[in-house]
Amino acid sequence: MIHEGAGQRISASNGYSHWICPPSGSMSTSDTLIQGHADLALGELPDFTSEHYKDAYSRINAIVIEGEQEAHDNYIAIGTLIPEQAEELTRLARMELKHMKGFTACGNNLGVQADMAFAKEFFTPLHDNFQKALAAGKVTTCLLIQAILIEAFAISAYHIYIPVSDPFARRITEGVVKDEYTHLNYGQEWLKANLDTVREELEQANRENLPLVRRMLEQVADDAAALHMDKEDLMADFMTSYQEALTEIGFTSREIARLATAALLG
Ligand SMILES: [Fe+2]
Ligand SMILES: [Fe+2]
Repeated sequence: MIHEGAGQRISASNGYSHWICPPSGSMSTSDTLIQGHADLALGELPDFTSEHYKDAYSRINAIVIEGEQEAHDNYIAIGTLIPEQAEELTRLARMELKHMKGFTACGNNLGVQADMAFAKEFFTPLHDNFQKALAAGKVTTCLLIQAILIEAFAISAYHIYIPVSDPFARRITEGVVKDEYTHLNYGQEWLKANLDTVREELEQANRENLPLVRRMLEQVADDAAALHMDKEDLMADFMTSYQEALTEIGFTSREIARLATAALLG
């Protein structure tokens, strides 16, 4: 949980940030309570060997592995729609496969068997919408789904996971999150360069897919909590990356507020 009144936001050069509180001597009782909560959220590591943790990890780890596989397939597919970008997109796709292998190793390291059937079902709505857009040659929709929504979802999940992950997974996830920013950036730049012609399709695609991401965040909340990842932190981090991307693409704050409202309506 983030308590704006209790601290100061510290932005790290690697793109993620955390909050610190003033020295305890200057705190009121309520500040102390907030500090205690912040310590729990920021500092307390779960028991990585407990059955409760491993059970939740079998689904979260599978979602991550499936997400990286989907990302690989999606970038290769987008390359068929923008052949002049196919080489660059293949490069991004290769990074996703590397991520997938890294996260597979994280599960193995904890002795957890990823529940891939669960993860496939978890991604089905977004997967189907991507395939529909691909079949219709809709580059804008494909990029919104993969390079903006899925990347922002991944970035938020990895940010919130890193402080509560085991040391092996932390090293891997820190490397991955930097790559995901380059992927988000790729989508951003393409949509920005084509904003005049893609605006309408982007708004429509956003209306159809942002609610799916919200539902995915909700579905994962209980398992994420078992990993000490807070649902509101996940949502707040996702909305931050998503809105920053829309700003970069060239939308005004009012337009972004309208686009973000789709999350509440779908
Ligand atoms: Fe990735
Ligand atoms: Fe990515």
